Amino acid sequence: MGKYNISPDLNPYEDVVLYEDEDHKVVYLGTYAATRDFHDSHKTKSKKKKSEDVDVISYLIVNRNEGFIVDPGGYNIFPRLITNVSKYIDLDNIKYIYMCHQDPDVCGSIPMWKDVCPKAKILIGQLWVRFIPHFGVLDFEKVCVPIPPQGMEVELGLAKLQILPAHYMHSPNHFSIYDPISKFLFTGDIGIAVLPDPYLVVSDWPTHMQLMKPVHEILMASNKACRHWVERMRKLDIEAILPQHGAIIPKEHVDKFFRFLENLKCGVDLI
Ligand SMILES: [Fe+2]
Ligand SMILES: [Fe+2]
Repeated sequence: MGKYNISPDLNPYEDVVLYEDEDHKVVYLGTYAATRDFHDSHKTKSKKKKSEDVDVISYLIVNRNEGFIVDPGGYNIFPRLITNVSKYIDLDNIKYIYMCHQDPDVCGSIPMWKDVCPKAKILIGQLWVRFIPHFGVLDFEKVCVPIPPQGMEVELGLAKLQILPAHYMHSPNHFSIYDPISKFLFTGDIGIAVLPDPYLVVSDWPTHMQLMKPVHEILMASNKACRHWVERMRKLDIEAILPQHGAIIPKEHVDKFFRFLENLKCGVDLI
């Protein structure tokens, strides 16, 4: 039985192990405010932001000394990320760098990752593979493993990670990952929020839902797309939802999140 560490007290500015057992580990990489010059303030949660760039949340999955980076983020967060990843695994043992879709806040650091992890494969939706050279990775055909539209299974050590379609939530060829060991669902830009004061784990659901609503109304394609995704995800046994912005949604709020999405009017519904 693994150990979970998902609490509203976690510090969004520091890396932390969220799940751990003998073979398997899931780490939050401490990426909040990684693009900002916040000097000594990173130990406090209350520091005012100096700029309004989008905070990202990146994760690392390790099984039997093979590593899988979930959404490495943009150019500016690379120094923080590489420092924190190196605490948990040798960079030579990174097997996959996964990007849920093509946006710069997900993929912007990819040429640097390729330099430091030359053995790692880039996992990205098949539609986006030919866009990878525009981030500076010219030998993309050798390096990329295209995810087919129907998704795929990926082996990591003894684990089998399920890459599941999340098309039009918000991007076409967007994917979610289900890790059957930790029972975490990594959702990229689904379940995100813009937080005035960062926290890593949701505790006050009504307030958090209000912070999620405007960004989902803009980014999600339609209520039909939301319902289709929720219908498939409800079949999974989920311990927490781990998005790429905002905060982790723990088990107690997962069903409320699904109901929020099922009832959301968004995208083309609002034209
Ligand atoms: Fe995006
Ligand atoms: Fe994003």
